[in-house]
Amino acid sequence: MMDVELYSSEEMKLVDDIINDNINCGIAIIEKVSHHVIDSGGKRIRPAVMLSAYKALNGTDIKSAVPLAASMELIHTGTLIHDDINDRSVVRRGIPTAHIKFGTSAALLTGDYLFVKAFELLSEYNKEIRDVITGACISQAIGEIIQSQNIQNVLLSEQDYLNIIEQKTAGPISASSKAGGLMAGASEKDNELLSDYGLNMGIGFQIMDDILDVVGSKSNTGKVIGNDLNEGKMTILSIHALNNSKGSDNDHMKKVITNNENSNDDIMEAIRIMKDVGSIDYAHDLSMVYGNKASDALEQINTRTEEWDKLLALSDFAVDRNH
Ligand code: IPE
Ligand code: IPE
Ligand code: MG
Ligand code: MG
Repeated sequence: MMDVELYSSEEMKLVDDIINDNINCGIAIIEKVSHHVIDSGGKRIRPAVMLSAYKALNGTDIKSAVPLAASMELIHTGTLIHDDINDRSVVRRGIPTAHIKFGTSAALLTGDYLFVKAFELLSEYNKEIRDVITGACISQAIGEIIQSQNIQNVLLSEQDYLNIIEQKTAGPISASSKAGGLMAGASEKDNELLSDYGLNMGIGFQIMDDILDVVGSKSNTGKVIGNDLNEGKMTILSIHALNNSKGSDNDHMKKVITNNENSNDDIMEAIRIMKDVGSIDYAHDLSMVYGNKASDALEQINTRTEEWDKLLALSDFAVDRNH
């Protein structure tokens, strides 16, 4: 959960109620796997962004937007379950991942189930909204595929990395924000600004996630530190360290990224190199650049309300957090 109250817990309860209605289908394994993940917390960033965007743009019938927000969180949940299989991640939100606890088959199929339930909710909305959300889901899948094609690719460029994270992470956050505006009947210009806000916030959000994978604390992130390095997943930090380290340090970075399994000492040494060559600071600065782009987009929307402040607080949080 967040340190600051960035969303109304009353409204998020409405979102969770709809999520629960959709999970409780009478099939024990689906219910168990889904509740395992949903009930373990999560920051609820995507529904928070959507509902705040809706209200900031003068949407008043919150009940009409809640199923859409629930749909986004269901999609996010399905994605995380599948992502953890793909990334061989064993812990999320401080507990064993779904495939570790229930087996890959149950996790995989429950992920599918959650997607379909999300699209059932989405089908009640107009075509423009449906297109925004489904477009983001397609780009997310493509982003994850391009990422996996570049596992252990020590030659991946910063621009290619940015394209991947835009697709896999920023797209859905951008879609959440824009869909809030569309629901509220905002102008085309404001909806584009909301989309831009979410996109930049989402890029900064993923850069921050990648930083936390290296220097986060397990008790805050609820994930295993160093997983990206061990998996050979290229991030802004590893790309920067590869480009800025020399000699044996550079050899070590390459070795850790291309090895299928690394010892803890080898991972720690790679993190030491990343720190030495300034990769953490570089990534922090870049996440702030995207956070500022997000707030610049928000500034151009001609409204200043408490909900607008929340959007600003959400993007500030996204790019500078410890969990
Ligand atoms: C994790 O998303 C996956 C990324 C896109 C980095 P979150 O950090 O939003 O995960 P939860 O829902 O809060 O656990
Ligand atoms: C987010 O990237 C992938 C998604 C789009 C779900 P990560 O793989 O870095 O997310 P975590 O660290 O597992 O949450
Ligand atoms: Mg992952
Ligand atoms: Mg990560």
